[in-house]
This record gives sequence, C-alpha cells and structure tokens, in this order.
Amino acid sequence: MGAKIISGEEISEEIRKGLREEINRLKERGVVPGLATLLVGEDPASQVYVRSKRRACEKVGIHTEQYTFPATIKEKELLGKISELNERHDINGILVQLPLPPQIDSNRVLLSISPDKDVDGFHPINVGRYMSMKYFDQMIEEELFLPCTPHGIIEILKRTGVELKGAEAVVVGRSNIVGKPVALLLLANNATVTVCHTGTKDLGEVCRRADVLIAAIGRPKFIRGEMVKQGAVVIDVGVNRTEEGLVGDVSFLEVKEKASAITPVPGGVGPMTVTMLLVNTVKAAKRQESGG
Ligand code: GUN
Repeated sequence: MGAKIISGEEISEEIRKGLREEINRLKERGVVPGLATLLVGEDPASQVYVRSKRRACEKVGIHTEQYTFPATIKEKELLGKISELNERHDINGILVQLPLPPQIDSNRVLLSISPDKDVDGFHPINVGRYMSMKYFDQMIEEELFLPCTPHGIIEILKRTGVELKGAEAVVVGRSNIVGKPVALLLLANNATVTVCHTGTKDLGEVCRRADVLIAAIGRPKFIRGEMVKQGAVVIDVGVNRTEEGLVGDVSFLEVKEKASAITPVPGGVGPMTVTMLLVNTVKAAKRQESGG
C-alpha cells in the first residue's frame, strides 16, 4: 500500500477556476487586477519562478508588468521604482523576487512596498497581522495577505481532508519565507507544532512524532523513510536542482511507502505557491477598489 500522491496542480486548478469567475465579475465593474513583478539579476531559478507567476496571472485575467534590473543595480534605483508602483492605481500588487544581490538590503526593500500591495505577505505589518491573530478562519475572514507557500500548504492539507486540530505537526526548517510562517498557520489551525532546525537534537526522533511533516530544509532527499511515522502526511517544499534533475527535500521513493499522503516535486507545493499569489492579488484589487 503506497501513499496517496497529492496533486498540487489539481488543487490549484480548482482554486484558479473560482478566481477566474471572480476576476470576470471585477472586470464587469471596471476593475482589472494588476501585478508588477520585479526581478533583479539573472538567477535562472528566479527567472523561471517569475515567468511561471506571470503566466499564471495572465491565464486567470490578471494584468502583469515585468521590471527587470541588472544584478549591479543600486538599492536607491530599486526603491525608486517601488515607490512609483506604490502610487499607481492600476497596479494592485508588487512582487520583488528573492533573493536579492548582496549590495541590496532585502529588509529595506520589503519595507518599502506598500503593505496594501504586499501580495507576498512579507511586509512586517502583514506578518504582524497574521502573527497576532489566534485562528486561521479569522485570518481568511479578515482577508489578510498570508505568505504564499505557507498558505498553499494549509490549503493542500485542508482540501486533502487532513485533520489539523490536535495533530502533531513537525516543521523542518525555520526560514522567514516558509518554516516560521507555516508553523504559525498550523498553530492557528490548532495543531501542536514543533519547529526543527540545524541545532535540533535527535531530528529523526522528533520527525517520527509527526502526523503532519513539513520539509522545508533546502537539502535534497534529506527526509529519509526511517524519519517518518507510518501513516503520516508529508509535505515536501524542497526545490533542489541536482544531477538527477529536480528533487525535493524528501526521499520520495522511501517515504511514500510509509506516508498516507505525500506531495511530489514538481507538481506539489510549487503550483500552490503561485495560486496563492493570484489569490492575494485579487484580494489586493478588491481592497483597493473599496478604498480599504
Ligand atoms: N523566493 C522564494 N520564494 C519566494 C516567494 O514566495 N516570493 C518571492 N518574492 N521570492 C521568493
């Protein structure tokens, strides 16, 4: 008996279908959601990510504009472009693809994006908003900008029918983009959450407690079969380019024999990240239409 392979593509398509309808209704009122993407340098992975985000936008009817800068760009110039986009009424969302080159202070750049256009959910104001809210349903009701990958993971779990209330959730990795925020969102869904990192003792033992295991380490096939409890749900956030191609943070062939459900790489979390960006861009357009 193998695990159910969770299709992030299928779940994405369900959500995108609803979004297309919502965008069509907005367009009848003269509102066209618009996203500006900013790409600095020539990192091939970043180029691929930005291209797939723009393509997804266009397929659901979101207008996109791309601004590409050389890796040598001065911080001031980037901040100038963001300030211009902050003022534009036809641009509802601003996305600066990370990582940025070393001469640029990423925190200062993220701070300069208007919190109302922060469709990545990285601005400290937006982080503070979901951080200080107790329950996930409230976050959705209040239409907060949640960070895309963590929100995508929660949608995968909910739409796969995974019971989060009372579940032991273990997150491996503590990045600001995935590990830390997904831990908060799991907590807001009443899971009991443990976050592991490079200093964790007996990592295998902690992972084996997990009913829901989130792998966001950035190391190929790091999670081995013996680290997974029989019947666990495993979410693989890893995108590692290796000689054998794209592989996740989970040793898929080993772990699928133990797990009850697992996300593949590619085709699992990746498409959901893009979908949640679309969700946030539509939220931004609605919020700005109503002057909120
Ligand atoms: N780099 C890795 N993940 C992300 C993301 O979700 N958004 C942006 N802007 N950059 C990233």
